[in-house]
Amino acid sequence: MKNIVLIGFMGVGKGSIAREIIKHSEYISIDTDDLIESMENRKIKTIFEKEGEEYFRKLEKDVASWLEKSVRNTLISTGGGFYKVKNLKKIGAVVYLDSPFEEILKRIQEHPNAHKKLKKRPLLSDLEKAKTLYESRRPDYLALADVVIDVTNKSYEESAKEILKKVKKYV
Ligand code: S3P
Repeated sequence: MKNIVLIGFMGVGKGSIAREIIKHSEYISIDTDDLIESMENRKIKTIFEKEGEEYFRKLEKDVASWLEKSVRNTLISTGGGFYKVKNLKKIGAVVYLDSPFEEILKRIQEHPNAHKKLKKRPLLSDLEKAKTLYESRRPDYLALADVVIDVTNKSYEESAKEILKKVKKYV
């Protein structure tokens, strides 16, 4: 089985959907942000504050090389900017979780832990800038994806089941 790589904007539900996929399949899952936090033994927010974004992007590249070389049969959930690594398509079948910016924002703001979710993501601190970032990234996400799933108005479970069905021919 090839890996499945979930890409998409911050807050679209990559982590929550990954948890549903593992419930309904043989996959185990890992998350690139979690890998980076354990490599560095500090939070993403601290890495951004202390070292800057460029340093963080370098860590994403290191993670990407390791994933390509060493990881198989795994569902890989990624940070919203991870798609920029050069070897993304070599890591596995790429699934893009799509939803309009306003819907993503609504989902975050309605979450019981909304404050925490916003706080831990440095690039969401300015919503105007976040929207511009979303708009600049969406065409790239679409171009890289083997499978595109519109997650708007779907439960995490529904999205997970749709992913498993559509990704079959790529894994
Ligand atoms: C980022 C998304 C975050 C995290 C970092 C940068 C981005 O992950 O990797 O804050 O550039 O979009 P999530 O997509 O899980 O929030």
